[in-house]
Amino acid sequence: MVQRLREDGLLTLGIVATDSEGGVVGYAAFSPVWIEGEDCQWVGLAPLAVDDEFRRQGIARQLVYEALDMLNEFGYRGVVVRGDLAYYAALGFVPAAQGQLHCHQFGTDAALLIFTLAEDALTDLCGLVEYAEPFNLLMD
Ligand SMILES: CC(C)(COP(=O)(O)OP(=O)(O)OC[C@H]1O[C@@H](n2cnc3c(N)ncnc32)[C@H](O)[C@@H]1OP(=O)(O)O)[C@@H](O)C(=O)NCCC(=O)NCCS
Repeated sequence: MVQRLREDGLLTLGIVATDSEGGVVGYAAFSPVWIEGEDCQWVGLAPLAVDDEFRRQGIARQLVYEALDMLNEFGYRGVVVRGDLAYYAALGFVPAAQGQLHCHQFGTDAALLIFTLAEDALTDLCGLVEYAEPFNLLMD
């Protein structure tokens, strides 16, 4: 899926964590999302993964914080993620207000959370959030 995103020019940001020998032990990817069919300069976080042996050391947290800083510098307005509510809340994401934003991808039990980068990121923003087409591979 990440390869498809890259090939299709849809990888907004990919960030890796490496061990002392340069081996990749963590990865976070961000790609554009469309809200009510429009590019609103929001991106989606997926996937986020850390190698089993390196978990619970704050690597994912560091990857996400570093990426949010970069996305902010690039001028993106906000980030969505679908996943575990408690986990992403611990990273500073908040649940999308019901009725404002919703998403049908990745199953129905995953929460939709957001992290706003621009102060007015939520002004006049509502509707269906859609990740790029390669994410539909996950649902096949
Ligand atoms: C989820 C994942 C990326 C976390 O990576 P990590 O480097 O271990 O996470 P961190 O060490 O940065 O943890 C960040 C916070 O989340 C908490 N946390 C970590 N793993 C957790 C888990 N499985 N369940 C609940 N909370 C968790 C940590 O306690 C930490 O909070 P704290 O700093 O207040 O203690 C990693 O477990 C993973 O790759 N899982 C498989 C892929 C996956 O599920 N990705 C998420 C898709 S929605």
